[in-house]
Amino acid sequence: MTKILGISGSLRKGSFNTWLLRAAQAAAGDGIEFETATLHGIPLYDGDVEAETGIPEAAAALKDRIAASDGVLLVTPEYNNGMPGVFKNAIDWCSRPPEDADRVFAGRPFALIGASPSAFGTILSQANWLPVLKTLKAELWSGAKLYVSRAGQAFDADGELVDEKVRKQLADFVKDFAGFAAGKRG
Ligand SMILES: Cc1cc2nc3c(=O)[nH]c(=O)nc-3n(C[C@H](O)[C@H](O)[C@H](O)COP(=O)(O)O)c2cc1C
Repeated sequence: MTKILGISGSLRKGSFNTWLLRAAQAAAGDGIEFETATLHGIPLYDGDVEAETGIPEAAAALKDRIAASDGVLLVTPEYNNGMPGVFKNAIDWCSRPPEDADRVFAGRPFALIGASPSAFGTILSQANWLPVLKTLKAELWSGAKLYVSRAGQAFDADGELVDEKVRKQLADFVKDFAGFAAGKRG
């Protein structure tokens, strides 16, 4: 069984990216244990808090879930042509303390997808993650690209992914990324 952890980088209830994550989980076939995580409860990084009380519980829990996975799917919104601060903040917490960062990130397969109402579908946000993943020594899977543009049309009012082309792309993406992650584990 290949364990994939998908993380949505949006906190809002009606988030296209959380819907996309849910669709990725639903698309995961046999042999894939696909878990999901959100960033609720993770406070802003504060070095004083870290020095005084260590890593906050919600961030420590996310760290351990990443470390227990065979691969991580970041489902990223795009804000001002970059990744949202809340998402970067969570990953920053997970990279602390530095001597524990390799356990969590180094050599671990990571992949990126994202959804936005614009015509570009998070291209720049996904690109913005690349130097972060490189710094953390994560193993970026670049076997496919998925930019869900005009997200308001790709999902219905209940958050179901109704664009058949995107559904197929997503299912292939999850299958191929999980295959890569399984190979790395072996
Ligand atoms: C501060 C802010 C900046 C944004 N900048 C961009 C942007 O640069 N490119 C883009 O495609 N959408 C941008 N958007 C629109 C988001 O893609 C849109 O709000 C989207 O629904 C956010 O993802 P979510 O639905 O998962 O919460 C921005 C939204 C906010 C709140």
